[in-house]
Amino acid sequence: MKIIGTGSALPALTVTNEDLTGFLDTSDEWISTRTGIQARHLLSTEDLYDIAVEAANKAIKASGLRPDQIDFLLVSNVANRHVTPGLSCIIQKRIGVTCAGLDINVACAGFVNALMLADGMMKAGHARNILIVCAEEPTKYCNWKERDCSVLFGDGAGAVVLTEGNAFKDVKLTMISDRDVLYYERGMEPTPFEEKYIIGQPLVMKGKELFRTAVSESAKDINTLLKRNDLQSDDIDWFMLHQANKRIIEGIRNIVGGPCVKYPTIIEKYGNTSSASIPIMLDEMIADDKIKAGQKIVMSAFGAGFVSAACLWEWEF
Ligand code: ACO
Repeated sequence: MKIIGTGSALPALTVTNEDLTGFLDTSDEWISTRTGIQARHLLSTEDLYDIAVEAANKAIKASGLRPDQIDFLLVSNVANRHVTPGLSCIIQKRIGVTCAGLDINVACAGFVNALMLADGMMKAGHARNILIVCAEEPTKYCNWKERDCSVLFGDGAGAVVLTEGNAFKDVKLTMISDRDVLYYERGMEPTPFEEKYIIGQPLVMKGKELFRTAVSESAKDINTLLKRNDLQSDDIDWFMLHQANKRIIEGIRNIVGGPCVKYPTIIEKYGNTSSASIPIMLDEMIADDKIKAGQKIVMSAFGAGFVSAACLWEWEF
């Protein structure tokens, strides 16, 4: 499997840390030193479906394929206003693809999990050209009256088109069931028989615990991949990590090794865009001509669950 087209889309509205101080007891200094975030994009005039479609269309165009040549659509999303139908159904017609698709929710690790599924589908002969779209609006499940979570997130979408090839080398998935570190509960319609009715509540996070688990599990996943493929960290050209917090990335780098320049970041300008963060970063790096054939790339993402997932590429165009 290899990637032959990428695309991304961010909402038009940029909100800086300074903008948040108008209604939250926070500061640019606190947010930027604790997280590395300086700004984020928030959906305002457009909706999630618009940016999902924009990212998907850009990826299809970059791939050189026609929409009717896409054989399968995989969409990663944590939550949007439609519980059903899935986001893949909602965007299918708007991007002009006619194939089947499915939605996955593996929190911020959705992109790497979708890559694993795409690889398996190609190997099994179910599809030749697969479109993955990661579209996320985490700002819609934060409590904007509180400063703990709302300052961390941004909205965005990233997409890739995959086809047969030998670039995707290995993948490692981890799940450690611990709902309490990060969760968002939506209220459901109570039945007359309901005795355990729960009113929905915005995102709840145990920040310090999540931080520690993210660093240790991502580093473990990456080191497992390196060992399994007889590689040292020096052999890797890029470590593309989920953009949750610059200090999490630094913590992983301290364990895995390698210079800062091999750990690119976009968190400064976009905040945490959940499963869209790696495909958005990949799209920007390809546009900046940073990705070259033959480069070895590790991707690692982690999030609510707790889940983490990492994969290894030897890049082909
Ligand atoms: N602005 C100002 N002060 C704040 C803010 C804020 N936005 N948020 C918390 N504080 C205060 C706290 O109230 C606390 O004050 P106190 O000392 O008077 O009690 C103080 O700052 C320190 O708070 P901590 O929670 O100890 O700060 P910490 O250094 O742990 O940083 C953070 C918090 C940034 C959330 C960190 O724990 C983190 O990044 N954790 C990972 C969370 C994450 O990445 N979540 C994303 C979703 S999951 C994923 O993508 C992996």
